[in-house]
Amino acid sequence: MDQAEGLRNIIKQSAIQSRPAARVITVTSGKGGVGKSNVSINLAVQFRRLGKKVIIFDADFGMANIEVMFGAIPKHNLADLIYHGKNIREIITMGPMDIGFISGGSGIASLSNLGKDYIDYLIKNLAELDLLADVIIIDTGAGISDAVLEFLVASGEILLVTTPEPTSITDSYSLLKALNRHPKFDRNNTAIKVVANKVGSFDEGRQLYTKLNAVVNRYLKIPLMLIGVIPEDHELVKAVMQQMPISIQNPNAKAAQAFNDLATALATNATDPVYHKRGMSGFFASMIRGNR
Ligand SMILES: Nc1ncnc2c1ncn2[C@@H]1O[C@H](COP(=O)(O)OP(=O)(O)OP(=O)(O)O)[C@@H](O)[C@H]1O
Ligand SMILES: [Mg+2]
Repeated sequence: MDQAEGLRNIIKQSAIQSRPAARVITVTSGKGGVGKSNVSINLAVQFRRLGKKVIIFDADFGMANIEVMFGAIPKHNLADLIYHGKNIREIITMGPMDIGFISGGSGIASLSNLGKDYIDYLIKNLAELDLLADVIIIDTGAGISDAVLEFLVASGEILLVTTPEPTSITDSYSLLKALNRHPKFDRNNTAIKVVANKVGSFDEGRQLYTKLNAVVNRYLKIPLMLIGVIPEDHELVKAVMQQMPISIQNPNAKAAQAFNDLATALATNATDPVYHKRGMSGFFASMIRGNR
């Protein structure tokens, strides 16, 4: 039995034993600082309100975005699971509203050169994550690094956060262009959903999407949909300063309501990932396997 087959068996077994695998949503952007971590964390809160169990996976290696926004420091990270014998439950930190989060930490960088025993252990543990959560939100780093692209090609569902700033729109395009060139990118099995953030009006959000979609459609032929529009809201900035997601701190604020709409839109727009991308175990199996 080769390694890929071993991984498939582990995933298959967990699929038989359990309920459906968790829905994995990867949040990304071309340009940094456009609102990925806020989208991730507020989406988590709103999914909780819809009765879903949610885990946020902070894959922004080194930046520790989510823990700062939660005001909670995790004791362990993914590297402790891979190398120091911690199990998956030990590396989950519980935040407000019982939202779990996992810090990728330095574990992310070493994913591409793990030995077989480590991989088996990691995938087995991640399969357990599929039992603990309905939705897993992955907050990636910004920009077109190889590490981010690896995450994106393993994803069945991507939220691309873009603001009306011209550089944000062109950077989103550049990211999609790099993704499109990636040998493992599978356009038919990747749903890319645009979240327009920091807009002055709903129309501005639509226009941003229309502009981006026109060039993407013409040059890359990747289908793109608009899934949410979040207004620029000073209340959100205040919430960030207080290390509290705006959806908890001020649920009536315009941005919080828009995050509520985003979660509702996503809940009714579930994408069915192909077998090898299913759940967190499938996600990582497809990521690791492709690197061999
Ligand atoms: N809807 C909004 N209204 C007003 N300000 C916003 C909004 N969204 C984000 N911001 C501002 O942008 C800052 C950066 O947001 P956030 O940390 O979520 O971005 P990011 O894309 O995760 O950044 P990084 O690339 O550094 O990880 C916030 O601290 C806030 O000040
Ligand atoms: Mg961030």
